[in-house]
Amino acid sequence: MRKISLSGIKPTGDPHLGNYLGMIRPALELAKNYSAFYFIADAHAVNQIRDPKELERLTYEAAATWLALGLDPGEITFFRQSDVPEVFELAVILAASTSKGLLNRAHAYKAAVEANVAAGRDPDSGINMGLFTYPILMAADILLFGSHVVPVGEDQRQHVEIAADIARAFNHAYGEVFVIPEAVIRKEAAEIPGIDGRKMSKSYGNIIPIFAPPDRLHARVMSIVTDSRTPNQPKNPDEDNLFAIYKHFATPDESYAMRRKYFQGGFGYGEVKQALYEALERTFAPARARYESFLADREYLDRLLLAGAGKARTAGAPMLANVHEAVGIRHSGVIF
Ligand code: TRP
Repeated sequence: MRKISLSGIKPTGDPHLGNYLGMIRPALELAKNYSAFYFIADAHAVNQIRDPKELERLTYEAAATWLALGLDPGEITFFRQSDVPEVFELAVILAASTSKGLLNRAHAYKAAVEANVAAGRDPDSGINMGLFTYPILMAADILLFGSHVVPVGEDQRQHVEIAADIARAFNHAYGEVFVIPEAVIRKEAAEIPGIDGRKMSKSYGNIIPIFAPPDRLHARVMSIVTDSRTPNQPKNPDEDNLFAIYKHFATPDESYAMRRKYFQGGFGYGEVKQALYEALERTFAPARARYESFLADREYLDRLLLAGAGKARTAGAPMLANVHEAVGIRHSGVIF
């Protein structure tokens, strides 16, 4: 039996180059050797998105993104989280054996509290229970399928560790029910800079979307910050935001040639930007066309996601039955 790889994307904004390098590409790579479960975490997004039409649109966009980038739904169990009610039931049961202190230490919650305190507001101001219990729902996603590895970006490391803690606590109380999951994190891709030079992140508003139309992509690339060296001056590729992105999308030969130009000087950042734009366009243009055509057919996406959810529910059912058995919940035969 192959081991299980599972990951989710929260549909709260345009998928960007950091998501691609840090999560989507490694996840698709892992799917060659693991039995893979990849999904759209739409229930997690409900914490943030208040407009139903927007949530729907972002969910389809996330689905089209995975498919356009090569997810094969014949090989990978691909679904929408909200189509798998077993996840939500498991989350409720896990909450019972999860200590509140564990969740108090979660970075996202702590950061929200600290921001409130710093601004002189009530510590809980604007914080919903969905944010506080976010790691429990994520643990349910992971543990329901007996996941061994969870490919994620560095920002999700702690969440996977909390899922492992929740699994250990449950196993300690009830016996060996859950597999202890492990995060798989690609260090080299985790730190890709955004257009302002900070780590690329939707919370900083500095992203380069994977499927921006060419004119928008061009504008984003042109606005990446660099230092003020003139075209004539030699430059250090290892201290420049443009090269930090370029090296992931150029061929090894192109990358090598570009490094030399940096050291030699006589080559301005404007030209590097143009080369970066062209490398991105070359990498993503074919996928962008597929993305647009998937997006134009929501019925097809619905059918596909629902078929995936059927597979996911079948795969998760034995684990939920084990959990029922472990805690002493007896169903009277009524199944969802
Ligand atoms: N929290 C992840 C994010 O913000 C999305 C997610 C939800 C997830 N459930 C998951 C990732 C389970 C990996 C495994 O992007």
